[in-house]
Amino acid sequence: NDDKFKKVISHAKEYGYVFQSSEIYDGLSAVYDYAQNGAELKNNIRNYWWKAMVQMHENIVGIDAAIFMHPTTWKASGHVDAFNDPLIDNKDSKKRYRADVLVEDYCAKIEAKINKEVAKAAKRFGDAFNKEEFVSTNGRVLGYQEKIDSTLKRLGKSLENEDLADVKALIEELEIADPLSGSRNWTDVKQFNLMFGTKLGASADSAMDLYLRPETAQGIFVNFLNVQKTGRMKIPFGIAQTGKAFRNEIVARQFIFRMREFEQMEMQFFIKPGTQKEWFEYWKEHRLKWHKSLGMGDDNYRFHDHEKLAHYADAATDIEFNFPFGFKELEGIHSRTDFDLSQHEEYSGKKLQYFDHEDNASYTPYVLETSIGLDRMFLAVFSNSLQEEELDNGTTRTVLKLPAVLAPTKAAILPLVKKDGLPDIAKQIVEDLKWDFNVVYDEKDAVGRRYRRQDAVGTPYCITVDHDTLEDNTVTIRHRDTMEQKRVKIDELRSIIKKEVDV
Ligand code: GAP
Repeated sequence: NDDKFKKVISHAKEYGYVFQSSEIYDGLSAVYDYAQNGAELKNNIRNYWWKAMVQMHENIVGIDAAIFMHPTTWKASGHVDAFNDPLIDNKDSKKRYRADVLVEDYCAKIEAKINKEVAKAAKRFGDAFNKEEFVSTNGRVLGYQEKIDSTLKRLGKSLENEDLADVKALIEELEIADPLSGSRNWTDVKQFNLMFGTKLGASADSAMDLYLRPETAQGIFVNFLNVQKTGRMKIPFGIAQTGKAFRNEIVARQFIFRMREFEQMEMQFFIKPGTQKEWFEYWKEHRLKWHKSLGMGDDNYRFHDHEKLAHYADAATDIEFNFPFGFKELEGIHSRTDFDLSQHEEYSGKKLQYFDHEDNASYTPYVLETSIGLDRMFLAVFSNSLQEEELDNGTTRTVLKLPAVLAPTKAAILPLVKKDGLPDIAKQIVEDLKWDFNVVYDEKDAVGRRYRRQDAVGTPYCITVDHDTLEDNTVTIRHRDTMEQKRVKIDELRSIIKKEVDV
């Protein structure tokens, strides 16, 4: 799986999807640029989400709030006081680590030990080898396993209880391997705020301290009443938004899974207090359906309900996806009660209430939130689509089986040869189709190699113009996933492609 993940990263670069930011200056850690194909894929995911949330729901509207917000926003939201990660500094190496990642690294090291023992035994026993049996009867291996389990359990407990002394004690016990070892001269575990600060204003003494927003949600909460009034919205209704968010993640790794600058797609659904349980269930089911609609394998999703809840929530779950490095959070669904609106009422001194004509009463609405990282969704789609296939003739092909609706380019138009008028016909097809779809023209190399290139970049269709086209206005259309080729009329191309790529 490590190998698979490395392939995902290198494929993303080689085929123009994702580049390291500022690469010529050796990059900036956990910041990435979307390249020519990546930008298209990202736009398509964003549109697919926006359509499902805004266009398909009469009672959900979309906004685009600013990244900069009045600094009091982040006092009210709790981010100034509570948006922290426990960190630990190594006094000697001057390096700073996130405590949970440090412990995870340690566990990975023990796991490697287990795997080594298992591999050794597998070699010795050959066909008769059974891994479970070996682990359960081999005291040493079992000991490693138990150590991992108990360590992770203790860590989880300490982090949940925000018990930094416990985290520190745990880390001190660990024999941490290179490159984390040094003299293990740790200072205290400290809380470290994840928001990026900046300044607004020209002169140093009058400048105002601002934060880059760490989530898009607050832009929606502070606009709740503006939208409700100007849109004449009736509860229940939702406000959706996509946009950049920034977090100073301390250990940012796993490619675009955890970034310092990323994009969120969030929707806050305003409801009557007391109805949050049914809306929580509704949005859980609805969002899972959205994911499954992309056909990326129903088994690749699971819910992870939170036992320990954040101070603002009365229920929370994650939709986890099976990434190359295992099941991890892709989307969060949170029942946030009236926490946010009440906080903003308190800090701004303005009422943020809704008058319910049916009940003839005012109340502060409750909020049900769905929040998904666009970049994380990109990684889910991209890594799930990347496949190596054995072909009948014994060769392999690399194919990026992106859902057609999300693919950056829907069709490549290829003249079989660069003469006899075939390029002109192919270019005319590009001219005709480009009004409806992203299409490309490609005449370089043998047609088989062009097919492979389009497979690797994820283009669902290749359309080839050959000498028969001159006779009867037909072309071959080749399907990326089945590699089947069909002869069709040029006039039919639009409707064939449309059928596949329309939502
Ligand atoms: N408004 C709620 C909120 O922001 P969150 O669980 O902190 O909740 C929601 O974030 C989603 O945003 C996550 O499920 C994840 O997909 C994405 N996300 C969070 N931090 C991220 C990061 N550093 N890099 C990429 N995506 C991130």
